[in-house]
Amino acid sequence: MSRFVLEKSEEGLRLTDTFVRQHPLLIDFSSGHFAHRLKNITVKKELIARAAGAKSLAKVLDCTGGLGRDAFLLASLGCCVTMIERSHVLAFLLEDALKRALRHPELGDIAMRINLLAMDARYYLSRMDVVPDVIILDPMFPDRKKSAKVKGDMQIVQRFLGKDEDVMALFDSAMNTQCPRVVMKRPLYDKSKLPVKPTNTMLGSSIRFDIFLR
Ligand SMILES: C[S@@+](CC[C@H](N)C(=O)[O-])C[C@H]1O[C@@H](n2cnc3c(N)ncnc32)[C@H](O)[C@@H]1O
Repeated sequence: MSRFVLEKSEEGLRLTDTFVRQHPLLIDFSSGHFAHRLKNITVKKELIARAAGAKSLAKVLDCTGGLGRDAFLLASLGCCVTMIERSHVLAFLLEDALKRALRHPELGDIAMRINLLAMDARYYLSRMDVVPDVIILDPMFPDRKKSAKVKGDMQIVQRFLGKDEDVMALFDSAMNTQCPRVVMKRPLYDKSKLPVKPTNTMLGSSIRFDIFLR
């Protein structure tokens, strides 16, 4: 039997790590802490929104879909988001979550503003014909310090995907477009230097956003 199992349940599609006693991963934008965060969202409160310069109808390209949270937060603020995810398993989970959100009375309008693409963002960026207002990059970094350990659902994603080894290549691809704003999100403990100095940096309690303006 393989370690990770992707299966349909009554609640939706879910991913189980059979080696670890932890709830399976099921992406759900309508419950828990995330739903609460959505209900009270403002640009001022959300660092990602400020870093992205979020405003209604802004075209956002999220190159690192993951659990879809950043994309969903930005769409809830009126942005039109293209979300790219290269792991087909994650993309299936996201697709399933977006379908459920579309049927949800309060989340349907938000989910409608998100277009999910299952592919490598570097491929998309090299052929992109519509220039977005902002590109968001939030790759997987190794979990180094105990204090900075990723929480909850992200733990299973980290075990399943490991570290993204081509972060710099993705960054270069984003910077080589005509996009006026590129935002890189990374943990505070990651001290690696990017090849370009950011125009601005916003610090959170465990993450930083480096903002590159053209
Ligand atoms: C840390 S997670 C992103 C979390 C996401 N921002 C959220 O709010 O849930 C990183 C994700 O980016 C994806 N990823 C990394 N490099 C990528 C690339 N070049 N193209 C598409 N997806 C990529 C990984 O597969 C992983 O699912």
